[in-house]
Amino acid sequence: MPEFSIDPDIRRARTLPSRFYTDARFFELSKERIFARTWQLVAGPELSATLTPVNLLPGFLDEPLLISQGDSSTACMSNVCTHRGKVLVEEPCEASLIRCGYHGRRFSLEGKFLSMPEFEGVEDFPSPDDDLRPVAFAERSGFRFASLDPISPFEDFITEPAAHITDLDPASLKFTGRREYRVHAHWALYCENYLEGFHIPYVHQALNKVVDYGTYTTETFRYSSLQTGFDEGGGVAGRYLFIFPNLMFNFYPWGISVNVVKPVSPAEIVVEYLTYVADETSFATGAGGDLDAVELEDEAVVESVQRGIRSRFYDRGRYSPTREQGTHHFHRLIAGFIG
Ligand code: FES
Ligand SMILES: [Fe+2]
Repeated sequence: MPEFSIDPDIRRARTLPSRFYTDARFFELSKERIFARTWQLVAGPELSATLTPVNLLPGFLDEPLLISQGDSSTACMSNVCTHRGKVLVEEPCEASLIRCGYHGRRFSLEGKFLSMPEFEGVEDFPSPDDDLRPVAFAERSGFRFASLDPISPFEDFITEPAAHITDLDPASLKFTGRREYRVHAHWALYCENYLEGFHIPYVHQALNKVVDYGTYTTETFRYSSLQTGFDEGGGVAGRYLFIFPNLMFNFYPWGISVNVVKPVSPAEIVVEYLTYVADETSFATGAGGDLDAVELEDEAVVESVQRGIRSRFYDRGRYSPTREQGTHHFHRLIAGFIG
């Protein structure tokens, strides 16, 4: 018996039961069943050092990884020494090899074991187990992604929607800043709010003036979805690409705002905002204008849902077939991954 089932027909379907959000068991299960099996953003186009340590979702997956940029290729691997487990690289740095600061074991930039002092006579040594474990890695337009145990190659997560996003030249993007918002809500509540424009007229009055709600569209793909908002003149005001389970790429005429939803506890997340500007003259206008105000409006409503789903009188709801296809698709993916 699966834990949850969501009817594929949105007209018959009921939303995820509230225990998915309130029961800590599902928060724990989602680490290995959802987050370890999907793709996480590990760096943007601003990455420059030869060796860059990355902690994959600190406090949640908490996996120390290392991105190693060689002359011709970039690799991702475990950042944990195969001798006694020290984290190898603590800060971004330039180097021609990796040397452990505990007992001097050395690895190539590709993660191959090179040498180890005082190990003469050790049997079956070195073996492939002494190399650093490679981690699945993908690059798209300068953004780098890693997955601990991918259910599918990265291409399956982004190929189709990527074909829709051709207006911006990634080479022209300038990283201009990073902000963090702490939100008292389950990670999936934050994502499912992002996945529908249904709430725009009710929650975002200012945004509603620049987005033509009537023409707002949602397309769903295997592991992603794309929402498009048009302005009054019929031009694209914003495209909102969601990559399951927690990555949001928001494309505006001025550039890209990337949001990463990082689970902290069943009732808390940190949302990281990364801003990449291509056209400074139109920066922060239109649908990508006052993102801070929009974020605070979303936080207030999502935190209210977090309190509401604990109610004895609430368990599951229904979907709007015309406005909540993205949320329905997201719930179906969660139910499928949790199994
Ligand atoms: S832990 Fe790295 S050499 Fe001992
Ligand atoms: Fe919103």
